[in-house]
Amino acid sequence: MKILAIDTSCDETAAAVTDGVVIKSNIVWSSISLHQEWGGVVPSIAKRAHLERIDEVIKKALTRARIEKPDLVAVTIGPGLAIALEIGIAKAKELARTWKTDVVAVNHIEGHVLSPLAERDTVSNFQKFRKLDLMHWPAWGLVVSGGHTSLILMESVGSYKTIATTQDDALGEALDKAARMLGLGYPGGEIIEKLAEKGNPSTYPLPLPMRGRENLKSFSYSGLKTAMWQLILKIKNTSGELSKTQIEDLAASFQARAFQHLVGVVRRTIMDYDVTAYELLVGGGVIANMRLRKDLRLMAREIGLKVMIPGNMRLCGDNAAMIGLAAGFKAERGGIQRERQFENVDRVPRAKIDSEC
Ligand code: KG4
Ligand code: ZN
Repeated sequence: MKILAIDTSCDETAAAVTDGVVIKSNIVWSSISLHQEWGGVVPSIAKRAHLERIDEVIKKALTRARIEKPDLVAVTIGPGLAIALEIGIAKAKELARTWKTDVVAVNHIEGHVLSPLAERDTVSNFQKFRKLDLMHWPAWGLVVSGGHTSLILMESVGSYKTIATTQDDALGEALDKAARMLGLGYPGGEIIEKLAEKGNPSTYPLPLPMRGRENLKSFSYSGLKTAMWQLILKIKNTSGELSKTQIEDLAASFQARAFQHLVGVVRRTIMDYDVTAYELLVGGGVIANMRLRKDLRLMAREIGLKVMIPGNMRLCGDNAAMIGLAAGFKAERGGIQRERQFENVDRVPRAKIDSEC
């Protein structure tokens, strides 16, 4: 079943065609450059950019997948920016009316957490085992993005329980803010990663968030951010503007502590939880970070878990392929909004993945 999926939850206008877990096309147009001067995503600018680009992005997704009309249309209904979500939802309904197809409403976090299950569209299309066939349930899921830091117990596809989440900022958001404090660009995660590779994390040791309280099943980055800001002010007071080396060392220190905290809480929560799982599925923009991939793999190996991460970087950040993939599963379990019913599909800006159960 071919699905055209649309995601306009934040600053990426995304459309993709999927067939089960196979990605036929995955087009993402980012309006990030338009937000850069504001240091974060401006909803009204994102909305306008979606309106301008959505038709072109959808056309490209269909052309690349070599189809004219899908069997189903899928769309992200939340969580995300209300006025941005609306654009994708309106377009999905319009297309479903034209094509006389149904609509599948998808939760964006579900898309991220299922993204490691995506398969490439291989030339022969012959695959002995899909990643999904090798999975065990329940499994653990981790979403690390600009808007979410959630550790999820996945009973099966479609049945989720959030076990640990952030008290304040999401991990990606914290990295973006740290970059801003250092006078760097937006989004900051990738910039911090590059600088951290050159820096020494021990030069300016920052405090580890919630040290000794990893059992509380929550993440927190506000203390780390405050400590970083105070440290920057102190260095500037003594030696003036930050040097390149100082910026690299500060980036390395912030990233090291931010990841140490994430990995520590994930590890402790999983170990404390009375469930036997074999896999940890990880999705979201921050998992593009090589250091984090390594840290998570090391931790997982120690506690007997296999980490599953999207092989393709384009599946880490926001994209619609993960929405199509999630929609395929949802359609299988009867989650299709039939005919006129889909007119009721509406945005849910604060949607929780737990409601997918
Ligand atoms: O999943 P995503 O594209 O959007 C949300 O759903 O939020 O994630 C965006 C976040 C941003 O905070 C960005 O700084 C971060 O992912 N990010 C990274 C890297 N690439 C993107 N963080 C760390 N290292 C990276 N290489
Ligand atoms: Zn996202």
